[in-house]
Amino acid sequence: MQYYSRSPEQTEEIGARYAEELRPGDVVALEGDLGAGKTAFVRGVLRGLGYAGRVTSPTFAVANEYEAPRGAVVHCDMYRILDEETLYELGFEEYLDGRRIVLVEWSENIAYALPEKRKTVRISYGDGPEGRTIETVEAL
Ligand SMILES: Nc1ncnc2c1ncn2[C@@H]1O[C@H](COP(=O)(O)OP(=O)(O)OP(=O)(O)O)[C@@H](O)[C@H]1O
Ligand SMILES: [Mg+2]
Repeated sequence: MQYYSRSPEQTEEIGARYAEELRPGDVVALEGDLGAGKTAFVRGVLRGLGYAGRVTSPTFAVANEYEAPRGAVVHCDMYRILDEETLYELGFEEYLDGRRIVLVEWSENIAYALPEKRKTVRISYGDGPEGRTIETVEAL
């Protein structure tokens, strides 16, 4: 599916609707340049799953875990994770136990560790400072 967002709020709204398709065990790779809106999209996903609290970027924590009313969620940011050992120390494998929805920013850095069966959300810059194209791709 392809969507066009004209504001951070619209990106969150698209994320919230996308959340309806998500089930425990789903892994979502979020692709897009710095500041594209990956975290904004995840904020919407959490809202769509009924989570009312604050959703912040896991840039330093690497992974934030949430118990949302409609599912457990792990939101990862792999921007600074490049090697397999660091990823192993993080315990990333355990997140893939099928009990949660896993959303991964900068997943290209850990492509070797992601299941082949994963969904993709691609966010690209569009017209003006707030325009974004959002493309969702189903798992194989
Ligand atoms: N249509 C839009 N959708 C999402 N964010 C937008 C949009 N227009 C402007 N923005 C702004 O772009 C920024 C997106 O930040 P966000 O942290 O979500 O990006 P990110 O892709 O997660 O970046 P990073 O790779 O650094 O983690 C915010 O400052 C937001 O206000
Ligand atoms: Mg981010």
